[in-house]
Amino acid sequence: MSRILRIDTSSRTDGSFSRDLTDAFMEKWLQRRPNDQVVVRDLAAAPLPHIADVTIKGYYTPADQMDASLRAATALSDLLIHELRAADILVLSVPMYNFSIPSALKAWIDQIVRIGHTFSYDGKGFNGLLPGKRAYVLIAYGAGGYLDGGPFAGADFVQPYLKFLLNFLGIADVTFIPIEATTADPATIAANARKARALIDAAVAAASLRAAA
Ligand SMILES: Cc1cc2nc3c(=O)[nH]c(=O)nc-3n(C[C@H](O)[C@H](O)[C@H](O)COP(=O)(O)O)c2cc1C
Repeated sequence: MSRILRIDTSSRTDGSFSRDLTDAFMEKWLQRRPNDQVVVRDLAAAPLPHIADVTIKGYYTPADQMDASLRAATALSDLLIHELRAADILVLSVPMYNFSIPSALKAWIDQIVRIGHTFSYDGKGFNGLLPGKRAYVLIAYGAGGYLDGGPFAGADFVQPYLKFLLNFLGIADVTFIPIEATTADPATIAANARKARALIDAAVAAASLRAAA
């Protein structure tokens, strides 16, 4: 049994390609692994606050020097980190907004990337403190040309950023499942949806093989 943390970030609830893709991924996954437990955090339905001055002070204050106000300011970060630590598998559902990730997801990242909790610094280098986890990132791009070295590949600040960030936290095993050109004509969308479904099938089959090994 694995514990999965699913994080939705599209502001759209109806007709969201990233949510639909993630639904399809979860359905396939749970067909193969029905006993896995899923926790869902929907950052559009329940947006997180941006970190504030006092939150940052709390991040950099040693545990034995925290006062009540610093503890209160970092309580949400504590909870979100606990939720992430408890997961074996992270499933991120991400639309491209302005060539990058939605601010709702960035707000979550700013709450969970925390020195001494999810990464450390020893004076020479950084170490991720979340090893042994796997991440699947399902991305919807409105335009085409970002994937497979296309003409907009250099404008994709979603995959490189999330790959770097997850690796930074120690999550080395990251699989991206993208769909592009979600704003194109219906035939293009259908063809791209088929490609994305094939990637889901391959990712879930690979995970099952690993679990059986
Ligand atoms: C605020 C906003 C910004 C967007 N910026 C981009 C962009 O920079 N590049 C792009 O290809 N599509 C962009 N799009 C289109 C979305 O990536 C596309 O509609 C995608 O399907 C959104 O994911 P969703 O369907 O899960 O909501 C943007 C859409 C919105 C709402």
